[in-house]
Amino acid sequence: MSDTGTTTARSVRIISIISGKGGVGKTVVAFNLAERLAAAGARVLLVDADLNCGNVHILANTTVTYGLHEVIRGELSVSEAAVSSEFGFDILAAGGGGDVWTEQDVTSVAGVMAGLRKLSTSYDFILVDNSSGVSKIADLITHASDTALLVLIPELTSISDCYGLYKHLTSSDSAVDCRLLVNRAESADEAEYIRKKLWAVSERFLRRTPGYLGHISEDRALRESVASQTALARLSTESTAVQQVTFLARSLLRVFGWLSEQEHNYPRNTQKTINKTTAMADIRE
Ligand SMILES: Nc1ncnc2c1ncn2[C@@H]1O[C@H](COP(=O)(O)OP(=O)(O)O)[C@@H](O)[C@H]1O
Ligand SMILES: [Mg+2]
Repeated sequence: MSDTGTTTARSVRIISIISGKGGVGKTVVAFNLAERLAAAGARVLLVDADLNCGNVHILANTTVTYGLHEVIRGELSVSEAAVSSEFGFDILAAGGGGDVWTEQDVTSVAGVMAGLRKLSTSYDFILVDNSSGVSKIADLITHASDTALLVLIPELTSISDCYGLYKHLTSSDSAVDCRLLVNRAESADEAEYIRKKLWAVSERFLRRTPGYLGHISEDRALRESVASQTALARLSTESTAVQQVTFLARSLLRVFGWLSEQEHNYPRNTQKTINKTTAMADIRE
């Protein structure tokens, strides 16, 4: 774990990374975002809350048999269960999985989140990588976080699930701060098209819209970094995706007061339009 007590405590910022559909890139985004935030000087803990199929430790090339599971069960504290990684941030792996989750376990997740919030002397950012879809545990984590980063890809099912998840999250807590990230986009135009459509549907049916954090391109380098069990930035500083994840990290650092307004350079997409009229036709209230 990181040193404690050597830095003036700012409040820790908790970001819940979540999606409606699985396989959209939550874990790779969380992992590489943690690396980029740490590279910018932030103290970061990445929590693997995909309790049955957690694989953050695989991406980090770390063998660890304990983690959040043991913290939820009260067997270890976060500081006992977290391990440092070679990527500049700490990891709380999913830990021993496979058990049936009891009501008591679910209830204790709220206590774990409250405990994480108290770690401001150790961490500036806590990223929580969730399992896919709606679950009680992901709900509790997300509602106890400062921001929900909703990851989606340019596929109708993912867009539809993302809208459903946004609706679900905001229906139980209207104050939840949701921000979209379009992953695996072919172009900025494609991501912008999806953002606009999701905003239109959300505005129409929910009378509110999520924030937008931009996009990450479909990039072979990301798959290679997974295969090499390393961070994208260690593999290639030139790839489009690494620049976009760096940009995402800078956006979050600015949102949370780490970078000044002047340093922040928000993306301005061009006005080019693409004709995909039918792509959102199936999204209903
Ligand atoms: N932007 C991208 N470009 C190329 N491949 C990607 C991208 N994002 C994700 N992938 C691929 O998709 C796989 C699944 O991503 P993962 O993070 O495990 O999804 P999730 O956690 O949402 O289930 C990754 O292992 C990677 O190979
Ligand atoms: Mg995952």
